[in-house]
Amino acid sequence: MHVLGLSFFYHDSAAAIVKDGVLLAAAAEERFSRLKHDHGFPALAVEFCLREAGVTAADLDYVVFYEKPFVKFERILLSALQTFPRSWKVFRESMLTWLTDKLWVKDLIRERLKVERKRILFADHHMSHAASAFYCSPFEEAAILTVDGAGEWSTATMGVGKGSTIRIDREMRFPHSVGLLYSAFTAFCGFEVNEGEYKLMGMAPYGKPRYVDKVKEVVKIAGDGSIWHDMSYFSYHWSPDSTLSRKFTDLFGPVRDLAQVDKTLDPYYADVAASIQAVTEEILIAMANHLHRETGLKRLAMAGGCALNCVANDKIRRATPFKEIYVQPAAGDDGGAVGAALWATHALLGQPRRFVMEHAYWGKEYGEDAILDFLKREGIPHVRCASDEQAIDRAVDTLLKGEVIGWYDGRFEWGPRALGARSILGDPRRAEMKDVVNAKIKFREAFRPFAPSVLVENAHEYFDL
Ligand SMILES: [Fe+2]
Repeated sequence: MHVLGLSFFYHDSAAAIVKDGVLLAAAAEERFSRLKHDHGFPALAVEFCLREAGVTAADLDYVVFYEKPFVKFERILLSALQTFPRSWKVFRESMLTWLTDKLWVKDLIRERLKVERKRILFADHHMSHAASAFYCSPFEEAAILTVDGAGEWSTATMGVGKGSTIRIDREMRFPHSVGLLYSAFTAFCGFEVNEGEYKLMGMAPYGKPRYVDKVKEVVKIAGDGSIWHDMSYFSYHWSPDSTLSRKFTDLFGPVRDLAQVDKTLDPYYADVAASIQAVTEEILIAMANHLHRETGLKRLAMAGGCALNCVANDKIRRATPFKEIYVQPAAGDDGGAVGAALWATHALLGQPRRFVMEHAYWGKEYGEDAILDFLKREGIPHVRCASDEQAIDRAVDTLLKGEVIGWYDGRFEWGPRALGARSILGDPRRAEMKDVVNAKIKFREAFRPFAPSVLVENAHEYFDL
């Protein structure tokens, strides 16, 4: 049985194909279209998935979309109506895009893939996240935590997975949202929402959490980790193009000047970043602790955009009684494609689980001939190494000379992190390498972190594990 999962029309469109409960391929559309966060119909990712599985769209048993467009539209419409007439712009924009495109996802899928309507299914947004976390995890039973900006109504859920079933017990609802809170501060620190969140996380360690009390004027946190935003500080619920209200900038000062963003690290904004990061960690730890109290389970599976906050994940590991934590590598909405396909396979169709996602290499691989053809066609100077050893020796020599390498090997990664299949490598022992690499990548800010690659047997020498 082949099930295709799809996520699109928000950000990070993706497709994933599952055969009898086993994932065969998964890819974000941006990897093919080369448009960062491509949100259109993932035609190229679908084409890749079908080819990888050796099937055509006609062979698909089900196509599953990662959220329910009508419920999401209801949320957007009701939220806009509550704040009307201030929200008239959101209202107008929503009407235009939703009534022409987004509501008719089923028709679009039917038209693009030529599959019958009865084979097209819809999963809840947070169920897709929960399924992507639990069904990919090695756990037979686990607590599940999903936290993101917003799905249909949910912005966070807590539940339990057991065998083929997932039960969602609690949810937090729009507009109260850890993801949207973090995005609001992302915007305040001069970064693009839905893109710059990891930059904010990277900036946080350069500051001190001096403004935690101020952040807590904007958001109240309960003992179970549920939060309540004072909406007078925000505008995302009524404005299509701004996140923060005047009251927010009265409290925190002006939004960081975009013109300055790539050049300097203003200590004030670094302190604000450290403060929102600290509050986010506090919320997520409270949520995880509550979930542990409620379920008594030792294992935790996490997804949703906030699960990409690896600094917070480490704090959860240290500060909660959970013994093992699994985070699905594409924790954001791209991962919803895998979750939707696995949800249909297990929760809906009752098939037993047969798969654990043990790595993130689910994308396309290009063979040596294809690579050689490309290099020749583009007139790129190249040398063909006789063996892998030779290629590695050459790479090591290059790194030792202080040069930077683009490393390209095998299937590309699923999720936003470069994990050695498509990575930029430099010698970390040279202090100047940070600036050399930053200078080579356009618009890369000086404070952005680097990921160290270390042999697993040496990891304890470098990390406090
Ligand atoms: Fe999401």
